[in-house]
Amino acid sequence: MNSSKILEIQNLHKSFGDFKAVNNISLHVNKGDIYGFLGPNGAGKSTTLRMVLGLIKPNQGHIFINKKNISGNNRKFLNDIGALIEKPDFYKNLSALDNLKILYKMSNLKNDERIFEVLNEVDLWDKRNQKVGGFSQGMKQRLGIAQTLLHEPSLIILDEPSNGLDPQGQADMRELILRINKEMQITIIISSHILSEIEKIANRMVVINNGEKILEGNVNDLMAKELLKVSFKSSNTVQLSDFLKTENIEFEERNENIIALINEESIPNVIHKITQKNIPISEVKQMRTLEELFLGLTK
Ligand SMILES: Nc1ncnc2c1ncn2[C@@H]1O[C@H](COP(=O)(O)OP(=O)(O)O)[C@@H](O)[C@H]1O
Ligand SMILES: [Mg+2]
Repeated sequence: MNSSKILEIQNLHKSFGDFKAVNNISLHVNKGDIYGFLGPNGAGKSTTLRMVLGLIKPNQGHIFINKKNISGNNRKFLNDIGALIEKPDFYKNLSALDNLKILYKMSNLKNDERIFEVLNEVDLWDKRNQKVGGFSQGMKQRLGIAQTLLHEPSLIILDEPSNGLDPQGQADMRELILRINKEMQITIIISSHILSEIEKIANRMVVINNGEKILEGNVNDLMAKELLKVSFKSSNTVQLSDFLKTENIEFEERNENIIALINEESIPNVIHKITQKNIPISEVKQMRTLEELFLGLTK
């Protein structure tokens, strides 16, 4: 995938009265990204996404979509974006298919094959004739995603799509997002206040807190930035802890586990030395998730 910028935000500001909801946020989303938009509740995620969609106006800053500066009255750029910002609103007494047909007509779309395509894509083909009122939360969310796909956008924005879903619904949602990204080559921005949710699917991400950007980048790079917690299981923790002491590696002991803080680059070397010294190791696990990093940063 090429890395041209499909969305760029420069020094965006939004205040409500004296309150700065978005304070000088800059970021960019590359074509093909699954871009995670992370922050605790009230961080400014929805406010930022609403500005991208032209639903509210920034006080300052610029938004570029496909390199074009979006000004207040230019709505043409929206043709290229699909969005699920609030809970999707459907007619409960109508079927999934009829709901999409209505939206389809309202948007003046021409190729109605597309309705069948998107129903298939979100795994609702078999349920197409059922009333939406009887749908589970997860099915409603998937129908909401189907709706964002109708007009063949190249970017879709999903604001907390996993909210209110049970673990199975969340897993289905992740699978669906990955599939849309891969099969339909659609760039996806997904926001969440739960980092583990994003960590599982996003390739790039931003973390915001109190309206400010804390960090942005490649998810893998962000994970590698600091010391990693590595958990070793060993039947000889005495030997292992002696070794870690000689290497000046910080560690904590818990039963037959030792949790050590190791620089990512030195992990292979440390493991090599452990095996050279015949220290018994039955398990090695990397403990630090982006979630821990996130919690530390936003505390
Ligand atoms: N229309 C509004 N008027 C006043 N305050 C608002 C408005 N919209 C959002 N806010 C405030 O801005 C902050 C950021 O909100 P929001 O962008 O919805 O956060 P997030 O989506 O990250 O949970 C919150 O403190 C919220 O109360
Ligand atoms: Mg929000």
